[in-house]
Amino acid sequence: VPAGGYDIVVRPGLLRDVPSLVATLAPAARYAIISDATVAELYGGGVVAAMRSAGLDAELVRFPAGEASKTREQWARLTDELLALRLGRDGCVIALGGGVTGDLAGFVAATYMRGIPFVQVPTTLLAMIDAAVGGKTGVDTPAGKNLVGAFHQPKTVLVDPRVLQTLPAAEVRSGLAEAVKHAAIADARHFDALAAAASALCEADAEALAPVIARSIEIKAGVVGADPFEAGPRKALNFGHTIGHALETLSDYGMAHGYAVAAGMVAEAELGEAVGFTERGTAERLRELLRGLGLPTGLPAGAEPSAVLEVARSDKKAREARTEYTLLARIGEVARSGGKWTHPLPEDLVLAVLARESEPGGESRVSPNDGTI
Ligand SMILES: NC(=O)c1ccc[n+]([C@@H]2O[C@H](COP(=O)([O-])OP(=O)(O)OC[C@H]3O[C@@H](n4cnc5c(N)ncnc54)[C@H](O)[C@@H]3O)[C@@H](O)[C@H]2O)c1
Ligand SMILES: [Zn+2]
Repeated sequence: VPAGGYDIVVRPGLLRDVPSLVATLAPAARYAIISDATVAELYGGGVVAAMRSAGLDAELVRFPAGEASKTREQWARLTDELLALRLGRDGCVIALGGGVTGDLAGFVAATYMRGIPFVQVPTTLLAMIDAAVGGKTGVDTPAGKNLVGAFHQPKTVLVDPRVLQTLPAAEVRSGLAEAVKHAAIADARHFDALAAAASALCEADAEALAPVIARSIEIKAGVVGADPFEAGPRKALNFGHTIGHALETLSDYGMAHGYAVAAGMVAEAELGEAVGFTERGTAERLRELLRGLGLPTGLPAGAEPSAVLEVARSDKKAREARTEYTLLARIGEVARSGGKWTHPLPEDLVLAVLARESEPGGESRVSPNDGTI
């Protein structure tokens, strides 16, 4: 998949070819492979050994798994480790892991000696189709997530869908929600393809996932390429995320990102239908697909509409005081009006729709605990 200046390779079994791929696509005197402890254990040792037997100089550098490691403290510690290893400007960082690893190791690479090349080898579905594409790197601070960082594009992104076999099922589903989002904003046929392959996708079948991952990356890379610094078109990627982020925050990040986005997409489609931006029946089509993927379609129990609205209003990234929503025109297309990609909505309408979305929904509802990671 070409992604504006660098190649993204998606292939089941690719992991064993990482040495030859990096030697060609990101040649360097020395490689520092950065992984969290879990991924280092599962795949890091194998990759380092393969790199070395291919004659490449490689070191594995670890940090504790989890979002709690995406900090300036870990950035400093990893940077010091690379300095101790005497990695030079002719070195290269390989981020082998999920989105936390990509963001953290990418930020290390962005700042190390004013920036050295890096390669993304994402190992979660979310990282493959979202975090590894777009060039955003960074860390969290006590004031909020992702508040310190840099744009730093990888030399290449190498994706082996087979590594998803070891990923917990809830993490696979959470990533699938972003794939649904990509289809919903840009490609109606892809939306149908996801529905047709739903059960194989839930089982993390690598052959079924490979084309889905490739198409998702194409969509995200296309949007990002048209708008690298988030001036307009990139806002399409925010579909489902105004409500989704609020649900995630309200759950104190106990709710998996994708589960929150799934519920957010349905709510925002309902909002779009209510104001006439979105074709009727769109929310129902989303519900059907998300249900097939084992994702929630309504607000989790206990998420009070007024609390959701309050959190959405105080979202740190919102530039204006009012809350803006990315809305669909229909499956496969984002609604625009007056050249704008996002829309403010009357709060009483949002409250009414959220109240409807939080009614007990019987079998359409997935317990939010299923999405807790
Ligand atoms: N830069 C961006 O544009 C962007 C976009 C979306 C999300 N993100 C960031 O991504 C992060 C979330 O990413 P994530 O969900 O991948 O989290 P993560 O990196 O913490 O990975 C989730 C868990 O899965 C484990 N894991 C990873 N790969 C595995 C595998 N193949 N088998 C078994 N276990 C495996 C990890 O050790 C970790 O415990 C957040 O910090 C978010 O802000 C960034
Ligand atoms: Zn997201």
